[in-house]
Amino acid sequence: MSVGSMRQDTADAIPFARPFIGQEEEEAVLRVMRSGWLTTAGEALAFEREFAARLGENAVDPPAGAAAVSSATAGLHLALEACGVGAGDVVLVPSYTFASTAEVAVCLGAEAAFIDCAEDSFLLDAENLEMTARRLSEGKTAYETGGPSGRPRAVIPVHFGGLCCDMEAVRGIARDYGMAVIEDAAHAFPAYSARGVPAGTLGDAGVFSFYSTKTLTTGEGGMVVSPNLEIIKRVSLMRMHGIDRSVWNRYTDAGASWRYEVAEAGYKYNLPDILAAIGRVQLRRADDLLGKRRSIAARYDAAFSGGPFFSVPPTAEGDARHLYPLRLNSALSERISRDECVWKLQEQGIGVSVHFIPLHTMPYYRKRYKLKARDFPRAMDAFSRVVSLPLWPGMTDGQADRVIEAVLGLALP
Ligand SMILES: Cc1ncc(COP(=O)(O)O)c(C=O)c1O
Repeated sequence: MSVGSMRQDTADAIPFARPFIGQEEEEAVLRVMRSGWLTTAGEALAFEREFAARLGENAVDPPAGAAAVSSATAGLHLALEACGVGAGDVVLVPSYTFASTAEVAVCLGAEAAFIDCAEDSFLLDAENLEMTARRLSEGKTAYETGGPSGRPRAVIPVHFGGLCCDMEAVRGIARDYGMAVIEDAAHAFPAYSARGVPAGTLGDAGVFSFYSTKTLTTGEGGMVVSPNLEIIKRVSLMRMHGIDRSVWNRYTDAGASWRYEVAEAGYKYNLPDILAAIGRVQLRRADDLLGKRRSIAARYDAAFSGGPFFSVPPTAEGDARHLYPLRLNSALSERISRDECVWKLQEQGIGVSVHFIPLHTMPYYRKRYKLKARDFPRAMDAFSRVVSLPLWPGMTDGQADRVIEAVLGLALP
């Protein structure tokens, strides 16, 4: 354990993330606990309806439905499965993402091909995406240096930190090469494209995370939305052992049939009602929580803009501001490494993180595809100089100012 992580146990420590859970969430949980039915039923159904309705307000293609699941990882797995991804297929994913985005492809017997970041961005590069899809469709390996081969079947753009990818470009490339588009919207509720369309409604399916640090949390959980009802039906079937959902009430409703049929070999990926009840309250708070995150991020932007040592994260009007990935410029990193910066901040009781360690550097993928770091120069550059600062709705201005003071202190001689 580092000195820094010990310091975080003290009362004045500022955690990296902290969920905003109030009395309404507590009452919602109690209501479900007292109902005598804890797992998936009416609360989950209501959460699905309310979530889909919320996204539908500004969507060009409103969701035909939503399916609540146990995590975004489960949702990505099911969404790819519903799009028919399997052996012989390649799923194109950014290198700059969490393990989930790629592992789900491999779990389905497909391969993952990594895409580098765009210039000065944490988001995937459309040119690199097009080039990789073209190489694969010509029967070549994903990169000149090697990598997976197979049919390009799906792409998973990641709305990193709540900033929406250029979905027009991604969709155009997907159309040209016959790929499904599954949006990894784990960070992106509520986020919007440049045209004001909700992230998660811009592909064949969108997948959200309700993990404890996310913008809307149920502790653990996720949601799949799609404009295609067939995808929602398939996800709903496969999240519950391949058993039709109509039997969820077989224990609670005296008149319900005990009989069920296993239509497919499915998974156990449902969201329990206790968690869905928290999600329904969080959904109603979403705009308020976004406003609070924006106000902290604006404070950081003002403090770190313009000087020689730091670059503030790229942002846009519809940014959900889930993360604050500050970048250290060479004027600073020549004197102190990113890792030392992390330790120094932790030592002062400030919880920080690094988003992300690029997946192409991970031993499993490096060995499986014999990957070369030189194929992902922008992801490597982004990783080498990023520090994610605390950004959560309950943070006070005073806490944000302490973070600012400690970060600016890194640049003092
Ligand atoms: C980009 C991205 N995608 C997917 C996930 C997986 O989310 P979950 O923990 O809900 O499975 C995460 C989790 O942090 C993530 O950051």
